[in-house]
Amino acid sequence: MNCIILLWLFPVVFAGKSPRLKFTVHDPPGFHFMKPENYTTVYHQAGSHILYVGGQAVIYLLAFSDKEVKNTQIPVTVDENVKQACSRRSDLPEVECANYITVIQRVNDSLLVCGTNAGSPKCWLLVNNTVLTNITGSDMKISPSDISPPNPSQRSFSLSVDGNLYSALSAAGGQAGSIRRTFGSRKLLKSDRKWLQNTQFAGAAVIPESQKHKEEIYFFFSEHNRTADVDEEPYKARVGRICLVDEGTTKTDTWTTFLKARVMCGLLNSSQQYNYIQQAFVLTAHENRTGVIYGLFSNAWNTTVVCAYSIEEIDQDFSTSKLKGTTVARPRTCIPKTVTPLSSRDLDVIKDYPEIEKVMRPVGGVPLNLPTDDRFTQVAADTVLAVNDEHYSVLYLGTENGKVLKVLHTIEEAFIISQYSLFHNEGPVTAMTIDSQEGYLYVGTAMEVQRLPLADCSRYGDTCRECILSRDPYCGWEASKKRCTAIPPGYNISTGTIIQSLDQSNSSVCGEAAARKSTTPKEVLVEPDGLVLLPCPVRSYHATYRWEKDKCIKRYSCSILDDFCVLATTPELPLKEGVFRCMSIENDHKEEVVSFRLVFNGGPLSASLASTLGPSLLLAAATLWLL
Ligand SMILES: *[C@@H]1O[C@H](CO)[C@@H](O)[C@H](O)[C@H]1NC(C)=O
Ligand SMILES: *[C@@H]1O[C@H](CO)[C@@H](O)[C@H](O)[C@H]1NC(C)=O
Ligand SMILES: *[C@@H]1O[C@H](CO)[C@@H](O)[C@H](O)[C@H]1NC(C)=O
Ligand SMILES: *[C@@H]1O[C@H](CO)[C@@H](O)[C@H](O)[C@H]1NC(C)=O
Ligand SMILES: *[C@@H]1O[C@H](CO)[C@@H](O)[C@H](O)[C@H]1NC(C)=O
Ligand SMILES: *[C@@H]1O[C@H](CO)[C@@H](O)[C@H](O)[C@H]1NC(C)=O
Ligand SMILES: *[C@@H]1O[C@H](CO)[C@@H](O)[C@H](O)[C@H]1NC(C)=O
Ligand SMILES: *[C@@H]1O[C@H](CO)[C@@H](O)[C@H](O)[C@H]1NC(C)=O
Ligand SMILES: *[C@@H]1O[C@H](CO)[C@@H](O)[C@H](O)[C@H]1NC(C)=O
Ligand SMILES: *[C@@H]1O[C@H](CO)[C@@H](O)[C@H](O)[C@H]1NC(C)=O
Repeated sequence: MNCIILLWLFPVVFAGKSPRLKFTVHDPPGFHFMKPENYTTVYHQAGSHILYVGGQAVIYLLAFSDKEVKNTQIPVTVDENVKQACSRRSDLPEVECANYITVIQRVNDSLLVCGTNAGSPKCWLLVNNTVLTNITGSDMKISPSDISPPNPSQRSFSLSVDGNLYSALSAAGGQAGSIRRTFGSRKLLKSDRKWLQNTQFAGAAVIPESQKHKEEIYFFFSEHNRTADVDEEPYKARVGRICLVDEGTTKTDTWTTFLKARVMCGLLNSSQQYNYIQQAFVLTAHENRTGVIYGLFSNAWNTTVVCAYSIEEIDQDFSTSKLKGTTVARPRTCIPKTVTPLSSRDLDVIKDYPEIEKVMRPVGGVPLNLPTDDRFTQVAADTVLAVNDEHYSVLYLGTENGKVLKVLHTIEEAFIISQYSLFHNEGPVTAMTIDSQEGYLYVGTAMEVQRLPLADCSRYGDTCRECILSRDPYCGWEASKKRCTAIPPGYNISTGTIIQSLDQSNSSVCGEAAARKSTTPKEVLVEPDGLVLLPCPVRSYHATYRWEKDKCIKRYSCSILDDFCVLATTPELPLKEGVFRCMSIENDHKEEVVSFRLVFNGGPLSASLASTLGPSLLLAAATLWLL
């Protein structure tokens, strides 16, 4: 039989930069807000299943299980007179005269809650997860306006370490940004006004160290130069740090260990730089000062990219680089209080030269190779111990249209494992928090909160090849049970039998199991001149799909419709009887996905095909081809 070449439009080849798999997940229980929560703050303690979400005048206490989300709402209202005073103020928009929760942090055994309180910040304690009490009357001495901003659009970050609270407030209106120690047994300290220029904070994290006194907090922020020339970049991305042991001096209450550095993200020596840091995530190895910092950056066109930085390198630069404008390095770094006080000359250097000369550059010199048509809004990361005893970094990126990308990040590349669609409404992802211990990612938008298991191995299918090609470090193929399974905690690499191939997609590790399988053709009865639509389910967007007829090597391209590569006929291009096989080709490996035997009988479309297609696809495909 001759081969008819039907449509030779363009081969269906997908860019390697796109997610390999796309999952739409609506089955896990999520939580829907009754009204949009435009400003939220999220608190989660690793190991628990409770997520605290602070919204407008309410704290949502969301208790997740596999079956449901139980929610308790704790109202946090504003006094009526404070509200009235707020609406009389001209510097705050009316909508902000509510109480937006900006801080939920555990300090010692108490859960501290602070809110904007209609422009005059206030804090409470959440007792027994149920009762909100006034902080006055407890022995906590705090100044709420140092912890919470007065309006919710002013970004802030709080961090609780060893019973001390650290707070970073972005600049807004006439207020300068600040980094403070706002509560605890250590002396309350603040940043000098000279050190921060119109700062917008993007994150803060503790950098652990086996020698406790050397622990630091890194703050990530962008500085804005209001008087920059039009052709000049007004933003500069920064990392700043302070030592946890900093006690100031006897005379002043400013930090003596603050240092900052410029952070670059873009092509080296190119003007194509991303100077605004939106968010940062610090991925540390336990105890030791190693690990990676992921920064989410944008430029003036709101294009977003991710750059990765080595903590060791940043640490090294902070301790060795000359201070900008001087010929000296920083007099001292983290040193416990007991040693001799700083000289007044040292104090002058600290006050006048907060920046180091060295500029922080990303690992590999360039941003990660990620899809450019997605705008990212959130970043989180995890480190996974694979069966080869190596640690792999997995990056989670929230996008502006409510998607989550899961990315394997190695020294060589960023491999986009999958894209999840989790939400009914496609608003931007506004919050993301990861619990490596329990293995969940919590993702929030202004409308919904969802939880995603990190080791989501059953989604990859039930063959070794599908499991291996996923390149998901959480998952491996367990040959004895013939399933794609999560690497169990405490997995013994010398006796375990789970297989993976993470450094490159190589399904030859599957051996015989990876051999090409063939499918039994489903019979399709059609009218000789009727419309024929043969659907081939698309799983991997890194694969090429095409149809082949009978034993013929002639190929038919197909067009992607939803998640199918559909081979279709029009009256001008009829199909003849025979067996049509849909082949997917990925990593030089060809596999048959589905096959149909086309038989003419003059009758209507067979029920078997109709059921394969599903009514919506059939309709969609028919509509497209009849137009
Ligand atoms: C939240 O933002 C949306 C879109 O910007 C706006 O329409 C809505 O009024 C806001 N809701 C509240 C409660 O501020
Ligand atoms: C917090 O805990 C530490 C150590 O347990 C203790 O020294 C400190 O007094 C506590 N602070 C408050 C305010 O309870
Ligand atoms: C919190 O729980 C403890 C023990 O169950 C109880 O003694 C205490 O009164 C509770 N506090 C509040 C404010 O309900
Ligand atoms: C908390 O303080 C406010 C005013 O400062 C007062 O009106 C309210 O009654 C107090 N609530 C409790 C439970 O003490
Ligand atoms: C802001 O930009 C102007 C114009 O280039 C420059 O003179 C000024 O020093 C900059 N300010 C800061 C704080 O960098
Ligand atoms: C980038 O510029 C610096 C100084 O301007 C130069 O030393 C370096 O060699 C350049 N690097 C590249 C890759 O062009
Ligand atoms: C941390 O580093 C020290 C020396 O640099 C090493 O002895 C120790 O084993 C490391 N700890 C971990 C948990 O990697
Ligand atoms: C970038 O995003 C910000 C905030 O979402 C928006 O105000 C601004 O108009 C955007 N700029 C461009 C060039 O799209
Ligand atoms: C792994 O199994 C081997 C053999 O049973 C045993 O000798 C070894 O101690 C185990 N390793 C761990 C980390 O449990
Ligand atoms: C895949 O793995 C096999 C055996 O481990 C090896 O022989 C082969 O070269 C690998 N293929 C690629 C493309 O690396």
